[in-house]
Amino acid sequence: VNGKGLKDFLHINDFEKATILNILERAKEIKALIKSGERTYLPFKGKTMAMIFAKPSMRTRVSFETGFNLLGGHAVYLGPDDIQMGKREETRDVARVLSGYNDVIMARLFAHQDILDLAKYATVPVINGLTDYNHPCQIMADALTIIEHIGQLEGTKVVYVGDGNNIVHSWLLLASIVPFHFVCACPKGFEPDQETVKKAQQTGVSKIEIIHDPKEAVRGADVVYSDVWASMGQKEEAAYRRQVFQGFQVDEELMKVAGPKAYFMHCLPAERGVEVTDGVIEAPNSIVFPQAENRMHAQNAIMLHVLGV
Ligand code: CP
Ligand code: NVA
Repeated sequence: VNGKGLKDFLHINDFEKATILNILERAKEIKALIKSGERTYLPFKGKTMAMIFAKPSMRTRVSFETGFNLLGGHAVYLGPDDIQMGKREETRDVARVLSGYNDVIMARLFAHQDILDLAKYATVPVINGLTDYNHPCQIMADALTIIEHIGQLEGTKVVYVGDGNNIVHSWLLLASIVPFHFVCACPKGFEPDQETVKKAQQTGVSKIEIIHDPKEAVRGADVVYSDVWASMGQKEEAAYRRQVFQGFQVDEELMKVAGPKAYFMHCLPAERGVEVTDGVIEAPNSIVFPQAENRMHAQNAIMLHVLGV
């Protein structure tokens, strides 16, 4: 359980700060173990996980499946055509049927309400592998990566440049419990959800700014973070967004403004030449690949936590 008596991993701020930091600490330990070649720690032996994907994925699918497998478990992949949640079958039916076969359910869905419903009716833990609203596993991996590269998350300045999307919401929810400085620089009209911003600011835990000038935003940043301008489900808006987001590309010039200590991060997949230049992704201070690898280690720790092992 997550500290509030919940079994699921749906939003980072469902948990106490200490729990989140413990999961990150555990992630480091499990990572070291797996990297050492040790293959006898099998806490998920005899356990199965259903993975529901209503959207495409590389990192989430492979990191969950491989991670669960490396620790002894068996994962079942269910693609967009398999379940067709809400179309072929109601979410509450999917939840109860899959709970009968599996110890844990991971889901990547469109509407956030669907994952709330899935969790409500499932009798096993549900892990959020991204919805239109948030992406908690990604931001746990990001926090782990920042801790590894900078030493700690607390007190750092993380500047996100781009669309106020699901990634931003998870940053805001993390900033609601762990103190750091979070800045989102986005075009007018593409701000993150107002209610989420307000609530995060009201906690008083972190300094949170939503602004419209990327250059002003990145000054003194420890991390400059970028994501696609058109998320999954918005691809038909891609051309329009490319116009509106002019000036929000993370390029070498913007990284220069950020300063030499700034790392570049991106949840990937990236559209090189759109939200970020090829040069920035390939630069020595880009940590996008360690970041991607950490999805697996962070999620292993999340799964250990929700399964209580
Ligand atoms: N970052 C991320 O979630 O990647 P995928 O969409 O490939 O899973
Ligand atoms: N904002 C992106 C994140 C992909 C990992 C999307 O939702 O498509």
